[in-house]
Amino acid sequence: MDPVRNPYAPGAGQRPPELAGRDRELQQFEVVLERVARGRPERSMVVTGLRGVGKTVLLNTFKSMAMQRLWGTGKIEARPDQSIRRPVAAALHMAIRELAPRHRAPERIEEFLGVLKAFAMRDPGAAKGTSHWSPGIEVPASRGRADSGDLEIDLTELFVDAASVATDLAVGIALFIDEMQDVQAADVSALCAACHELSQTGGPLIVVGAGLPHLPSVLSASKSYSERLFRYARIDKLDREAADLALILPAREEEVEFTQEALDALYEAADGYPYFVQAYGKVAWDLAPHTPITIEDVRVSSPEAEEELAVGFFGSRYERATPAERDYMHAMAQIGDEPVPTSDVADALGRKPSSLSPARDSLIKKGLIYSAERGLIAFTVPHFGKFLRAQPV
Ligand SMILES: Nc1ncnc2c1ncn2[C@@H]1O[C@H](COP(=O)(O)OP(=O)(O)OP(=O)(O)O)[C@@H](O)[C@H]1O
Ligand SMILES: [Mg+2]
Repeated sequence: MDPVRNPYAPGAGQRPPELAGRDRELQQFEVVLERVARGRPERSMVVTGLRGVGKTVLLNTFKSMAMQRLWGTGKIEARPDQSIRRPVAAALHMAIRELAPRHRAPERIEEFLGVLKAFAMRDPGAAKGTSHWSPGIEVPASRGRADSGDLEIDLTELFVDAASVATDLAVGIALFIDEMQDVQAADVSALCAACHELSQTGGPLIVVGAGLPHLPSVLSASKSYSERLFRYARIDKLDREAADLALILPAREEEVEFTQEALDALYEAADGYPYFVQAYGKVAWDLAPHTPITIEDVRVSSPEAEEELAVGFFGSRYERATPAERDYMHAMAQIGDEPVPTSDVADALGRKPSSLSPARDSLIKKGLIYSAERGLIAFTVPHFGKFLRAQPV
């Protein structure tokens, strides 16, 4: 059928035509926004899940919800090798720019921007003169606030000041952090401390995170009270009903239907994982001659979908691994699809567990595997074991 009208959207962070099966999380976030705006004590949210389950999409939806309530919003994507100071500064700059036109006292905004600039210029890279980055803020940097160089102190002061600007407008500020497991350890600790401080003063600023399933343990390793700061929402594959809706509703807009058998086959192939739902749906649409999309169409199109996934979803990640890391993952895949004991991987490779720690640690750092619980590891990518078992070794 006409590929131009194809509604499905496989791709990182691509907004799905129908955000299926996430009503509970959306409702929870609605409550968070409402409570924070009213100065009620409330834990912020952190969304966790495997690759491709829709964390980024959900975070973006949360951001739109906050914007609809006229909140100031900003978003960063954490990187393992980068301090969050600059990205946070840029994100809060965006948030304040959203609020500024509605604020009656321009000097309050300018005052905050001065603090923000001082905060941003405390970046170690900027201090050494090695970077030409300038925050693009016209006002002069202020002194004596958020510029100590200690990220914990500076973030706390910055957040308090930002929250106070939002309070003037009876709204809030939401800072979204994607790939939050990649925030450096020292920065995680500073971030939690700043959120903790803010939660005590009731300032309307929240940090909303998304990351891989081990993010809660990253946060609690840094600050034991992190569980009281964040409400963890683990998102997973879609159940049958939601997966069907993700396919049916966008098609219906284009007056296209699926037969029941086609939906059965699609659920079997995609296993409810949102990325796969979009990928199989897209190819089935393109190859089906006309509505309704039948099981025959699904059968004919599935190999093409699998090929695209093998290149774009699995392959691109596999390529990032070194030969030693690949051996490690192949050994994991041979053992099974449940989280596997690291000692079993060592046994399978005939090595001492300690000699495999570097490979394991760098795979964790690359976001390909995670430690499900002590001594156990699992793939962050759904169906990765199956993909690896089909690869020639
Ligand atoms: N609730 C949903 N219903 C239908 N499709 C969805 C849903 N959530 C996400 N998708 C689709 O799944 C794909 C992956 O979404 P997204 O990039 O948000 O995942 P992610 O969890 O952030 O993955 P990663 O860990 O790789 O960053 C996108 O193509 C998106 O359109
Ligand atoms: Mg993502």
